[in-house]
Amino acid sequence: MEKIIDETLQGQTLVKEKKENNTKKLYIESYGCAMNFSDSEIVASILNKEGYNTTNELSEADLVLVNTCSIRDKAEQTVRKRLEKYNAVKKINPSMKVGVLGCMAERLKSKFLEEEKIVDLVVGPDAYKDLPNLLEEVESGRDAINVILSKEETYGDISPVRLQSNGVSAFVSITRGCDNMCTFCIVPFTRGRERSRDPLSIIDEVNDLWSKGFKEITLLGQNVDSYLWYGGGLKKDFKSATEMQKATAVGFSHLLDIVAKAQPGMRIRFSTSNPQDMTIDVIEVMAKHNNICDYIHLPVQSGSDRILKKMNRLHTREEYFRLIDNIRKIIPGCGISQDMIIGFPSETEEDHKDTLSLMENVKYNFGYMFAYSERPGTLGAKKFEDDIPEATKKKRLQEIIDVQQKHSRFRTEQHLGKIEEVLVEKESKKSDSQWSGRNTQNTTVVFPKKDYKLGDYVLVKMEKCTSATLIGEPVGYGPMQALSS
Ligand code: SAH
Ligand code: F3S
Repeated sequence: MEKIIDETLQGQTLVKEKKENNTKKLYIESYGCAMNFSDSEIVASILNKEGYNTTNELSEADLVLVNTCSIRDKAEQTVRKRLEKYNAVKKINPSMKVGVLGCMAERLKSKFLEEEKIVDLVVGPDAYKDLPNLLEEVESGRDAINVILSKEETYGDISPVRLQSNGVSAFVSITRGCDNMCTFCIVPFTRGRERSRDPLSIIDEVNDLWSKGFKEITLLGQNVDSYLWYGGGLKKDFKSATEMQKATAVGFSHLLDIVAKAQPGMRIRFSTSNPQDMTIDVIEVMAKHNNICDYIHLPVQSGSDRILKKMNRLHTREEYFRLIDNIRKIIPGCGISQDMIIGFPSETEEDHKDTLSLMENVKYNFGYMFAYSERPGTLGAKKFEDDIPEATKKKRLQEIIDVQQKHSRFRTEQHLGKIEEVLVEKESKKSDSQWSGRNTQNTTVVFPKKDYKLGDYVLVKMEKCTSATLIGEPVGYGPMQALSS
């Protein structure tokens, strides 16, 4: 394996594993959540062993794979448009094969092969190890499909090929699937039952990333706080199997603790936390370790108890506030962000006002806000009518976006005048003489490069800001630098 570092891509460092004798070219594109991007790295690794190296040039690809998202109708439309583009390229390069991976593959199954003539291969999120067999099918002129969901697959034994990486931050997946069944959400149907990955394979991956120079990892799962691994330990020390399982189980707070201790010079982030599953011990472990970032993505979806109940979010507004209070008490200054859905079936002006007042109360650092999009097959689609007019959805969405922008500015301004540690992740989009990174709370910070390098921990004095970005002056190395060289 040869490690290729290409400094040309907007100053970012592309780190790829390339096998020298590989002759076939894979073009892989990902849409949707971080888990899809992480899965594409697993797919690239599986295909690397089958003779494929990745390429950034669509026109020269032997195999094009698109890792798809079904979370909202718009996400699916984006993928359909890309398929049109691949079709145009296939006219010039007819031997090119096209495969669909991920949530749309799982949702639409063989329908994809009927609806989109260009598609040769349909593979669901748990079937990537079957890709070599499926490609053989395609080579012999047959359509190939595997959308079987698994109760065990975690890909823990696969070492991902890092794609489009800056060489500084990487995703490490810790759970797959989700058992929560929020009524609006397609994920439990496309990604299946929740399962956790062996902590030893997680630590191995983190150590490997560290040895390759990475400085930040984000532990990924649809619902990281429900991570739970049973295993290990010697049977003879326990009276019963249940006792053994209880004693040796690793929950999320324990996992965070082990990962933080394994690499004290590595920044650790995680996503996503579900309010009903986040426990105080997670917050306490965060407070205990300097290298776990003070940032929690804590989607709430609505501020109305009535809507939360219809969404099957298993907590109330008050319980959510209690959790926020605990976070602020245990980790003062912790960055908190939200996901919000407006226009859920039957949402009244009163419910919407509850959402606005919840936002006013929390004043999130960031937010990702969406209009409800009915997903076929979900409980929401079966039980409730998508009855909020588009114009109302649009108006409510704009209202929460405006409120969030005001709060983001308020939170960002709190950093002005302070000196904070920033991990250098990439060149600033606006200027090649500036670095871009984030502070612990996940706010982007831009500052002059001076002699600092990618992957350095730098102390930056915050001087100016926009609503979401801090602009500062570097004043020296941060305390994490000593642990990281
Ligand atoms: N727990 C997951 C959630 C994935 S979906 C995670 O890892 O983040 C991401 C966000 O998309 C959700 O939090 C929700 O705000 C939004 N979303 C999900 N289904 C939706 C739908 N049907 N319509 C609109 N937004 C939706
Ligand atoms: Fe979806 Fe709710 Fe799980 S948003 S991914 S069902 S926590």
